[in-house]
Amino acid sequence: MTSTLPRPAADSPEKGLEYATRDEIAAVQLDRLRWSLQHAYDNVPHYRRAFDERGVHPDDLRTLADLRLFPFTAKADLRENYPFGMLAVTQDEVSRIHASSGTTGRPTVVGYTANDVDNWADLVARSLRAAGVRPSDKVHVAYGYGLFTGGLGAHYGAERLGCTVIPMSGGMTDRQIQLIEDFRPDAIMVTPSYMLTIVDAMLAKGIDPASTSLRTGVFGAEPWTEQMRKELEAQLDMDAVDIYGLSEVMGPGVAMECVETKDGLHIWEDHFYPEIIDPMTGEVLPDGEEGELVFTSLTKEAMPIIRYRTRDLTRLLPGTARSMRRMQKVTGRTDDMIILRGVNLFPTQIEELILTVPALAPQFQCVLERPGRMDQLTVRVEYRHDVPAEHRGAAAVELQKLIKNRIGVTVTVDAVEPAALFRSTGKAKRLVDNRPKD
Ligand code: DLL
Repeated sequence: MTSTLPRPAADSPEKGLEYATRDEIAAVQLDRLRWSLQHAYDNVPHYRRAFDERGVHPDDLRTLADLRLFPFTAKADLRENYPFGMLAVTQDEVSRIHASSGTTGRPTVVGYTANDVDNWADLVARSLRAAGVRPSDKVHVAYGYGLFTGGLGAHYGAERLGCTVIPMSGGMTDRQIQLIEDFRPDAIMVTPSYMLTIVDAMLAKGIDPASTSLRTGVFGAEPWTEQMRKELEAQLDMDAVDIYGLSEVMGPGVAMECVETKDGLHIWEDHFYPEIIDPMTGEVLPDGEEGELVFTSLTKEAMPIIRYRTRDLTRLLPGTARSMRRMQKVTGRTDDMIILRGVNLFPTQIEELILTVPALAPQFQCVLERPGRMDQLTVRVEYRHDVPAEHRGAAAVELQKLIKNRIGVTVTVDAVEPAALFRSTGKAKRLVDNRPKD
């Protein structure tokens, strides 16, 4: 029961640990990490078993570096304990449940106590403030509401900051545009790919996206690049900043980019302890090296998570606008890595190159096929709607050459008419794997 455990101090949006020094952060992390390991060990049979099998006990954590002694947690562990086996509290203490759909089999279920929901709202409020959003601003939330953490996570945080929230959810693109025009929101929270869809629909209606009231875009839930930031900022005349999170760890607001620097995302390290590991060996890598991001929750009551392997690839960097460490924009997920004739590549690398070809729009899909014995990658990409057919020139050939020169692989580029590709109203599916399953 959590009632016997000291409750981690809640963080007021106006003060709290956001501006703490590195020493203060490290001291808080060590205290909270001890609490979290003990809480998981005492209340979740999975963790007790996994720690015992590894021969470690929460008391073995003397320094933050000792965390590497403890076992990792993977998505499969959550699936095996479906639906509520990972919860560390009784059901009457759970005030919210979210779940991620997952492409196969059982969804991943996560739970929150009232305190967890409270901390989450604080962290999203903190994130929004870092984005430049202010109390009394109007915030249009176009992340999906429901079991996905995007909508409700954004909503509670914007309310906590003192904003006026417009809970639009995803989809109904015409309605999105109407409300943006009529309600005149200051900020929008949405996946960057769905923002592009809204922009396209505005252009089709003869509305200049740069003329809207939107000043800030809080974009996340999928990888997006610096080039995409430039595109969105230019099209919408706004600041575009990156928000990161995952349901297993909390939801949106695990890390956030500051609008004054736009140089990667500050991880809210007083609630989530990050590590970067070599995805093959599991070895902890020093800050600055790219690898798989691993998180341990420091304050979560309902579902503590110990060394969760996110599969997201990034690197840890020192703090700038805040003292908490940054993570570089995510390159991609290990699952989305394409290995083509020995070369590793990610859809984000393709996105960067597409955006350097003036006639091409950042609406694209990478399709993997195996027509014979060799894998083949086709990049399907739309032409920009404002580029007339006679000015498209050799855009497809240009992209193909860029990919060959910069990444070192030969791909087929299939440039298609504007609006020809499927549009998601949430996360874009950039990689389609049509290879036979063997
Ligand atoms: O996508 C939570 C979220 C909602 C984050 C709204 C930001 C905004 P999941 O559905 O569990 O949760 O998916 C988590 O999405 O492991 C990453 O692979 C990816 N992801 C999330 N944010 C970013 C980002 C939400 N800013 C998975 N950049 C994560 C790159 C991101 N990838």
